[in-house]
Amino acid sequence: MSQWDVKTTELIEKYKRYVSDGHAFKYFPMVISRAKGVKIWDTNGKEYIDFLSSAATFNVGHSNQQVINVIAENLDKYLHHCFYIYHEPAIRLAEILVNLMPGNFAKKVAFGLSGSDALDTAIKASLIYTRKRNIASFTYSYHGTTFMDISVSGSFKPELRYNMSAYPNVHFFEFPDTYRRPNNMSEEEYGELCLEKIEKFFETILPGNAFAALVFEPIQGDGGVLVPPLNFVRGLYKLARDYGICFIDDEVQTGLGRTGKMLAVEHFGVEPDLIVLGKALGGGMPISAVVGRKEILDSAPPQTFFMALSPHALSSLAAIATLNFIMTENLLEKTREKGRYMMRRLQELEEKYEIIGDVRGLGLMLGIEIVEDKIKKEPDRKEAVKIIWRAWEKGLLITTYGKYGNVLRIAPPLIIEKEEIDKAIDILDTSIKDVIAGKVADEVFDLMKPWC
Ligand SMILES: Cc1ncc(COP(=O)(O)O)c(C=O)c1O
Repeated sequence: MSQWDVKTTELIEKYKRYVSDGHAFKYFPMVISRAKGVKIWDTNGKEYIDFLSSAATFNVGHSNQQVINVIAENLDKYLHHCFYIYHEPAIRLAEILVNLMPGNFAKKVAFGLSGSDALDTAIKASLIYTRKRNIASFTYSYHGTTFMDISVSGSFKPELRYNMSAYPNVHFFEFPDTYRRPNNMSEEEYGELCLEKIEKFFETILPGNAFAALVFEPIQGDGGVLVPPLNFVRGLYKLARDYGICFIDDEVQTGLGRTGKMLAVEHFGVEPDLIVLGKALGGGMPISAVVGRKEILDSAPPQTFFMALSPHALSSLAAIATLNFIMTENLLEKTREKGRYMMRRLQELEEKYEIIGDVRGLGLMLGIEIVEDKIKKEPDRKEAVKIIWRAWEKGLLITTYGKYGNVLRIAPPLIIEKEEIDKAIDILDTSIKDVIAGKVADEVFDLMKPWC
């Protein structure tokens, strides 16, 4: 097992003493000192290839030069002012977002600082606009950490929702997990089955027109990179239309090129009422946005979406630079191409190893499901965690997530080169081999608190 220095150990001890446990799962005993492009360095100078992108934040790479330049050029003017006074950066960004996002109808933007508060804003707007109180969401979904986000996120344990008296009128429907669908069904039939369950609920338990919003991730990220069948998404959208439910598309993780399209929902050809953007939008600076139907976002009175630091002026400039980079560098097409390459290489691993049950995803949002064996598909979280530990030791940053905590999460910066993909997959290959050979000890669990 790798050794780490005293300073790292001390800092981790201080973290444990002073920082709330409520923040984050914890993976590796490392402290970041620098990040550029696809690489991260720890305080010992060790270099890592980054397959995490700070949870899909650095789509344009760490410390993207265009983002840094625009921040540096504007630092001396003003950092920010709350929206009691107009400022140009956010207004320019709003115009760009309205023109960039799908939907042939009048649109506006409401800003925030993080995906979590933007999701909250979208739900507030839908409740105010429809004057209805029920919300449809999905099992194992993740929408952030505000009170409302936890209330609508199926990935949090029910005890947590109970202990914090979560918003009560949330109904969780089955999100299709095609890898674990009934044996006798095609993906399409399974998509139909999941839809029928929702329709039946609307017909027999609570009518569809009692719902304000349907909150939906076009690919469930934290659920384990679950790509739903096309007919499921289209049917869902039709249901929302038929019953007058606001279709909220959570693109916080999937958006801004991650899947090879500007939005993941474009793979399914539907036009959401509200689109939620965060993470990658600011190229590493805090900013989020809800883009969608003017009448829904305008139904809220002034101050409903107010936050003194939002929309942050410097972050807005960073977001404009980020969107510009995505477009001018042709990042969407490059992501599709690299995603296909990466998928082929991962499928080679899938053929080679009995413990890889499934490889899935779109673009550069990919997941590898680790199981005991391919027939029984029993999730193997322990082996998955050991694999990421070994990969970390060898210089690849990759984490686990998913409803059973057994999916290897692959989300590198979209600027990753083919050679870096090859190097990373070679590391992954040896790491899997080492774990199967029993070379990673159980003690690694004493040092981590991984996703579960
Ligand atoms: C799908 C989805 N929605 C919302 C959020 C919340 O975003 P943030 O953590 O930036 O507040 C996340 C974060 O992981 C996410 O993946």
